[in-house]
Amino acid sequence: MTHIRKAVFPVAGLGTRFLPATKSVPKEMLPLVDRPLIQYAVDEAREAGIEEFIFITSAGKNPLEDYFDSASALERRLQDNGKTSALEALESTQLPEGRLAFVRQSAPRGLGHAVGLARHLVGDEPFAVLLPDDVIKAPRGALGQMIAEHKHTGGHMVATMEVSPRQVSAYGVIDPIAAYGRSLRARRLVEKPAADKAPSNDAIIGRYLLEPSIFEQLGNLGPGAGGELQLTDAINADIPTTPVTGFRFEGERFDCGSVQGFVQATVAFALERNALSGDLSDFLAERLQSRALAA
Ligand code: UTP
Repeated sequence: MTHIRKAVFPVAGLGTRFLPATKSVPKEMLPLVDRPLIQYAVDEAREAGIEEFIFITSAGKNPLEDYFDSASALERRLQDNGKTSALEALESTQLPEGRLAFVRQSAPRGLGHAVGLARHLVGDEPFAVLLPDDVIKAPRGALGQMIAEHKHTGGHMVATMEVSPRQVSAYGVIDPIAAYGRSLRARRLVEKPAADKAPSNDAIIGRYLLEPSIFEQLGNLGPGAGGELQLTDAINADIPTTPVTGFRFEGERFDCGSVQGFVQATVAFALERNALSGDLSDFLAERLQSRALAA
């Protein structure tokens, strides 16, 4: 079984749900507590053993490139001033030189199109795709969990989580044939089904392990939902020759592509930090109490 070494981070979307903030700041650079969204996805990939990082970017995403660059003047200054903890905080932004690549998507033609642009960099090996909007709080990174399981299943793998019937129509879901532990063998993937037509409540979220055969399918794909090239359409087209598994990862996912999800993630992650949790808990308790009294 091939070791998964490469990850693709599609970050070329417009981020319209975060306007006006995203007018001049890429969505992936919005800070969740004290680090940008993209950092969480990159850390998860690193923990899973990823060695090469491919970002699909677009106009206006330069701050993201700069973020992973070295900042020698700043580092020297911090060193001279003995600011060790600030220097340590910068360490996590350093990716090994020569191991990161940026590919431009000239127009937002869909997630499938964005992933297809990585073809020449990925080559003929299985690879991971992480959507930084989906932030997962887990004892062990979700991507690492998937890679461990993929050693047994092979094929394409998508991360899934169970959602309520009320939410199902907002997601792509798995049409399952059989379940083995946390894995669900899929008959096909169904985009945004009506609640009464959904084949399951196992919603697909932004982590994928893909076989290189996906590139052939992406190359042949016509526009799907919303006139965009959809990754799920390409996965479905590949099912006759490549098995597809949904993996119910262990952990809690936050939809940081939406304002509601981002705010919830901010509170959840801040409550995990020793330096913040005490005061924040008191603050939240007081706020909730005064709202209850006013109601
Ligand atoms: P979204 O559907 O969340 O779109 O993309 P978006 O543009 O980021 O945000 P909204 O809906 O306008 O607020 C899901 C992921 O796919 C990437 C996005 O950057 C995000 O990580 N994507 C989407 C691309 O890289 N290119 C595309 O053409 C579309």
